[in-house]
Amino acid sequence: MFFPASVLRTAVLLWLASEINPADCRKHVPPAVTQVYQYPDDTWIENLAILSSRHLLLTAFNIGSGSAAKLLTIDPDSVNPTPHVIAKLGNATALTGISALPGNRYAISGGEYGTFAFVNGTMSLFIVSIKGNPPTGSVIDAIPVPDTLMMNGMVAVPSQPFTVLSADGVGGRILRINTRTRQVDVTWADPSLLGPGGNTALPVGVNGLRIRHGWLYFTNSGQGLFARVRIDRAGNKVGSEVQIIAKLTGPVDLTNAFDDFDLSSDGAAYVALEGSSILKFTSRGVQTTLVAGGQGSAVVVKTPTSVAVEDDGRMLYVTTGGGQVLRVDLKPLKSN
Ligand SMILES: *[C@@H]1O[C@H](CO)[C@@H](O)[C@H](O)[C@H]1NC(C)=O
Ligand SMILES: *[C@@H]1O[C@H](CO)[C@@H](O)[C@H](O)[C@H]1NC(C)=O
Repeated sequence: MFFPASVLRTAVLLWLASEINPADCRKHVPPAVTQVYQYPDDTWIENLAILSSRHLLLTAFNIGSGSAAKLLTIDPDSVNPTPHVIAKLGNATALTGISALPGNRYAISGGEYGTFAFVNGTMSLFIVSIKGNPPTGSVIDAIPVPDTLMMNGMVAVPSQPFTVLSADGVGGRILRINTRTRQVDVTWADPSLLGPGGNTALPVGVNGLRIRHGWLYFTNSGQGLFARVRIDRAGNKVGSEVQIIAKLTGPVDLTNAFDDFDLSSDGAAYVALEGSSILKFTSRGVQTTLVAGGQGSAVVVKTPTSVAVEDDGRMLYVTTGGGQVLRVDLKPLKSN
């Protein structure tokens, strides 16, 4: 599906607003967006990670086709980038979050998908060893995660790198899985993690997760929030305050919803806004529309789902629900 630029609505900044420097906005020149790959059938690509080989790891949905969802890699620097299946994960028909673990291992969540929710009792956290160039994958473990209808964005706890937090946007909870002991528990449940309730266009709450300097950053798709909360070294919420960084204006639906995001080393947040854009929030709270791939742009951006920024902050990769992998050149090298 294609959503014209006219449906884009801006987010309202509620955090550090006093530090916004309008000069930063005037200097903004939209970066170059190129398409790395486009699935012919608009396969929904849900998430991505940048591997040490600089290949991208992709999770995708495979709904309605009766076959298992696949874990893929793609080399964005090759002449003709093409996705390669590196593992099949159990009976999962949809794969969601990705989190790097120590020792070339990755935690991948997935299960049998229904409509905006998974089938109870089908969700697992798969541990996959990914090595080499080109990368190959082998499934090391499948940890059952019972009694949940959603595991979405995921992040490892920095001081306990074998433990991941997973966003349950249906139950309004943050799940915690220790990948060594295979223990699953709930760190916290809160109305700010729930969907909007009722029969809404997007009945999903907490979606993307990232941790930086003792804060858990999260998006809540259905409530249109980008927010953060203090956590302790084990990933538990500290105190009661949820700080709202940005709130979407206008009705939230699949053409106007925060999805996954990434944080760069300079503290900026790059947030996928479903519809056709990527928003950037600097650590000082300045918001710019980094990518607005609507009608008239060189690359039509179809429902961005997730973002991964390279460690050096030069390149940003985007996955979309329209089967695309895109590259955004944040700091083009000056040509001589
Ligand atoms: C996959 O599905 C089959 C058929 O329903 C079932 O027998 C098997 O236990 C399932 N495997 C996993 C890992 O859940
Ligand atoms: C999942 O199924 C179990 C067993 O039927 C049930 O006890 C539990 O309440 C269900 N959980 C959810 C989130 O629906």
